[in-house]
Amino acid sequence: METFGYDGIRGALEGCGWADRVRFFQTVDSTNNLAKELARDGAPEGTVLVADCQTGGRGSRGRSFLSPGGMGIYLSVILRPDCFPEDCMHLTCGAAVAVCRALERYGFHPGIKWTNDIVIERRKVCGILTEIAVNPETGRLSHAVVGIGINCRQRGEDFPPTLRSFAGSLQMFSGAQVDRNGIAAALIRELERLRASLHTRKGELLEAYRARCVTIGQEVSVVRGDRVFHARALAVDDDGGLLVEREDGSRETVASGEVSVRGMYGYS
Ligand code: BTN
Repeated sequence: METFGYDGIRGALEGCGWADRVRFFQTVDSTNNLAKELARDGAPEGTVLVADCQTGGRGSRGRSFLSPGGMGIYLSVILRPDCFPEDCMHLTCGAAVAVCRALERYGFHPGIKWTNDIVIERRKVCGILTEIAVNPETGRLSHAVVGIGINCRQRGEDFPPTLRSFAGSLQMFSGAQVDRNGIAAALIRELERLRASLHTRKGELLEAYRARCVTIGQEVSVVRGDRVFHARALAVDDDGGLLVEREDGSRETVASGEVSVRGMYGYS
């Protein structure tokens, strides 16, 4: 019987520099909210908050992120890279690579749907929400919070009907019981590794991202404000932006906005 919690995670973090900065909560509203609060109060880089359940889990673009107890890993880490916001646009890409590497250690074959969804066999198993705060005097980052939610133990019927055809969990792709403690610990190690290489190995990090990005080569629809256009995704650029080619042959980089990949998440 799995007991997800501090002891299990800590026990798998031997030799990890961030081991003493891990905190575990049975239930919180959102680990990102709590991390932002702690970051504002001066918590050090590498402070990691993990929860079994979130009552107000948040996703990107103001959406909620379902975070039922006993099912997932909900984790946020505080980072303090000393840079301008435009110099850490690849942070979310790096976090996606960290999640993939942690899952690969456990035998999974994840891919990345640009920019921040981790998928297995076209089903979203993980989402990432990065939030930054800028020091108004220097214009530099005061902190970043990277929040990661991984669906681990849900069965198909545990997802609400609206999500059932495209959400997935690790358990759906594993013969064995999913080890949340081990995966959370592997993720913390990979995040520490990411932090160490964020500025010195940006090229390598983006290569690792591209190698896993399932969006490249796919037909996509880009929703920008109230406009929608169709295009083919060509590449991920050196800042993590998506280079797309429209039907008329013109090319542009999509830095924000919603991209749907044909054949995924109900877009046909
Ligand atoms: C998305 O899929 O749009 C992003 C989901 C991010 C969810 C994680 S769970 C841990 C952290 N706390 C939150 O409230 N959100 C992130």
